[in-house]
Amino acid sequence: MAYRASAQFYDLFALGKEEELAFYRNLAQEAGSPALELGVGTGTFAFALAEDGITVVGLEQSREMLQEARKKLQKAPPEIARRLLFIAGDMSDFQLDQEFRIVYVPSGSFQCLNTRKHQLGCLRSVKAHLHKEGSFVFDIWVGESDTSGTWRRLETVSLPEGGAVTRSISTRVQESEKLIDTVLRFDVHTEDGRITDTFYDWSQLALLTVEDVKFLLAESLFQVETLYSTFTRKPWTPESDRAIFVAEPI
Ligand SMILES: C[S@@+](CC[C@H](N)C(=O)[O-])C[C@H]1O[C@@H](n2cnc3c(N)ncnc32)[C@H](O)[C@@H]1O
Repeated sequence: MAYRASAQFYDLFALGKEEELAFYRNLAQEAGSPALELGVGTGTFAFALAEDGITVVGLEQSREMLQEARKKLQKAPPEIARRLLFIAGDMSDFQLDQEFRIVYVPSGSFQCLNTRKHQLGCLRSVKAHLHKEGSFVFDIWVGESDTSGTWRRLETVSLPEGGAVTRSISTRVQESEKLIDTVLRFDVHTEDGRITDTFYDWSQLALLTVEDVKFLLAESLFQVETLYSTFTRKPWTPESDRAIFVAEPI
């Protein structure tokens, strides 16, 4: 995902993530500092962990997302801000001079890595930065995706400066390529519904199964410690739409 046009709207739509946030917060508490978030975006999870006393490094590829995260950092209380560092980088190949107790990739961001080469590169980089008793935690979407490419309206939120923005999504699965073509559309409109601006973000996400990920992990010398289907820690079943991996280095 380019995450360029949508960076300015990202936090407006980051609602309803309480369970997900609690899940990653709890695991970070169990693992301890420091933590590394890959694809940190505007820092929603990183700020929450920092509030709990965890030191977090957030790696991010999109300049626009990083800018939003850094804007928030400037406004954060000093005791929180000093625990956070947002850096530019590619999660499929990074080198930081630090070891982490937990590396985590929330919000399905691992699927932004849409080739096997990039997925394995990410796992290799994670392995190189993870404490030998550390945890690598991430979630992926394994449910049905719309194959038709038709637009689906997701939600409308009010803008602080007046008016509102509506987010819509179109997905088209390329089964043979194991890709999900995804376009997010943001229509900015006045209170009476007149559209004044439209922004698009396009991406090709990896279509992954639990077996694909288990294979990638094994190949990268990780073992799955636990596999959940929900952020409330229900065990994974083949009917689940989501798979949440807690892996550890072998
Ligand atoms: C779904 S957003 C999640 C943002 C944040 N982690 C959250 O949960 O709110 C995915 C993020 O991953 C970033 N991203 C995608 N591919 C990346 C890569 N190869 N390296 C670093 N960041 C990447 C995107 O720019 C975007 O900010």
